[in-house]
Amino acid sequence: MKRSLFQRIEGRLRRIQKRFQGLGRKYAWVKAEETYFASGLGDSAWLLYGIVRSMKPETCVEIGSARGKSACYVGLALRDNGRGRLYAIDPHSPTDWNDSDSVDSFEIFRQNVAWIGVGDQIEMIRTTSEEAARGWNRPIDLLFIDGDHSYEGVKRDWEMFSPFLSPFGVAMFHDTGWDLEVNVAHSHEKMGVPRFVDELRAKGYPVLTIDKDYGVSVVQGVRGGVPLRSQASVTAS
Ligand SMILES: C[S@@+](CC[C@H](N)C(=O)[O-])C[C@H]1O[C@@H](n2cnc3c(N)ncnc32)[C@H](O)[C@@H]1O
Repeated sequence: MKRSLFQRIEGRLRRIQKRFQGLGRKYAWVKAEETYFASGLGDSAWLLYGIVRSMKPETCVEIGSARGKSACYVGLALRDNGRGRLYAIDPHSPTDWNDSDSVDSFEIFRQNVAWIGVGDQIEMIRTTSEEAARGWNRPIDLLFIDGDHSYEGVKRDWEMFSPFLSPFGVAMFHDTGWDLEVNVAHSHEKMGVPRFVDELRAKGYPVLTIDKDYGVSVVQGVRGGVPLRSQASVTAS
């Protein structure tokens, strides 16, 4: 059936609109790549982006946002998914884990989020993880732990939030590779992330580590991993 002039114009306008939406999406990636976040996360931010694009999570939680590199890449992926939300927890006040030039990073974080256009995806929670955990009650699909890097701090964050991980939920830790590289410039006497994540591995939690950007480890919240066969198929075989 022949399409009317109106239908043809409408079709053409839809295609133009789609092309602009695609360009807008790519431009936001360029903005993120060009933004100075003072972050050690480097290209591993794309690992967060990829996991979120693949998982299509409803709820993501980040502990430790600073100027927002990790948050913005998660936000971009959530925006590209068209669903989901990131709760970004950070007191943005002096702790042992701020760079000297990013102590009160809240305003810079807010500006970066606005510039990259991910404000609808990110809820900034300006408090400590301990405080935020008090009222927490919903399943978490992606948990990114990059806050208090002391052994006690990272253990506490895992213990407070990992019970909420959904069955195929994923936790990700930054700075798990510090003990692999003796580098005085990056040493920190209280650093306890590698030790803690090694303990999780020893207890049977699946841990996959990428030895770039000071080490990024992806951990599943179930000892031995989530079974990939249903009980019925195990009994039958
Ligand atoms: C290494 S920075 C985070 C970097 C950020 N994820 C990025 O991609 O650039 C660590 C942050 O953890 C925050 N922090 C320290 N203790 C915390 C706590 N108990 N709860 C939440 N955030 C904390 C600090 O304020 C600091 O901004």
